Amino acid sequence: MLEVAHLSVWYGVTEVLRDVSFSLPEGSVVALLGGNGAGKTTLLNALSGILKPKQGEIRFDGKPIHGQHPHDIVRQGIAQVPQGRYVWPNMSVRDNVELGAITRRDWAGIRSDQDQVFGLFPDLSGRREVKAGALSGGQQQMLAIARALMARPRLLLMDEPSHGLSPRLVAEMVGTVRRLHSEGMTVLLVEQNVGVAAALAEQAHVLRNGEIAMSAPGDQLLRNPELLRSYLGR
Ligand SMILES: Nc1ncnc2c1ncn2[C@@H]1O[C@H](COP(=O)(O)OP(=O)(O)OP(=O)(O)O)[C@@H](O)[C@H]1O
Ligand SMILES: [Mg+2]
Repeated sequence: MLEVAHLSVWYGVTEVLRDVSFSLPEGSVVALLGGNGAGKTTLLNALSGILKPKQGEIRFDGKPIHGQHPHDIVRQGIAQVPQGRYVWPNMSVRDNVELGAITRRDWAGIRSDQDQVFGLFPDLSGRREVKAGALSGGQQQMLAIARALMARPRLLLMDEPSHGLSPRLVAEMVGTVRRLHSEGMTVLLVEQNVGVAAALAEQAHVLRNGEIAMSAPGDQLLRNPELLRSYLGR
């Protein structure tokens, strides 16, 4: 579904991603691990069109999407759940969710997707008129996922969804991703939590200093000392 080939991204004179290649089969969950500053968010931002790669190709359903405007990429079915939840604190839960549909014009479809999304997150459903800033961290993470789903994506890019959540809420988030996966969603999951990646991903890639340092099946992550060394950058 997604193919990334020889991607490099620069910030000014600094090369932050170097010759990154991987692919994401339709219906899979693939994890991208790596320490702080490894280039994980940069990679997601290149996929969603926020950053323009200097070299390389990104193909979605066989069609090149690198260099396209973020709105056009969202319309083709790729939505990002940004790092740090990033909800609008002074807007209601309902309005935050509606913002996820900003690229759509099919009003009836938007309304029915909204009902579906609130069905998926009952905690949010009862708080539609509450300001997003008044939600707990876990609820804000769910809201960020709910907002992304309103774009009706086929590929969800998630940037450290477990960060800052209690173990109970991490388990809830894992359950949500499992459910989306079972309904056919393809997910690229950026994580620093190896346990979460191992629980969800079929395949994992470790990014270090802007390069894929190694790749392994998800179920081998916790038994692979080489990976952990590489992951920790030692
Ligand atoms: N706008 C920017 N301008 C210049 N350098 C940047 C910019 N954004 C990020 N960087 C640098 O690019 C590198 C990769 O950053 P990125 O945010 O992609 O890492 P990350 O893996 O997502 O880290 P984290 O786990 O902390 O979120 C880092 O060295 C960072 O300092
Ligand atoms: Mg990041």
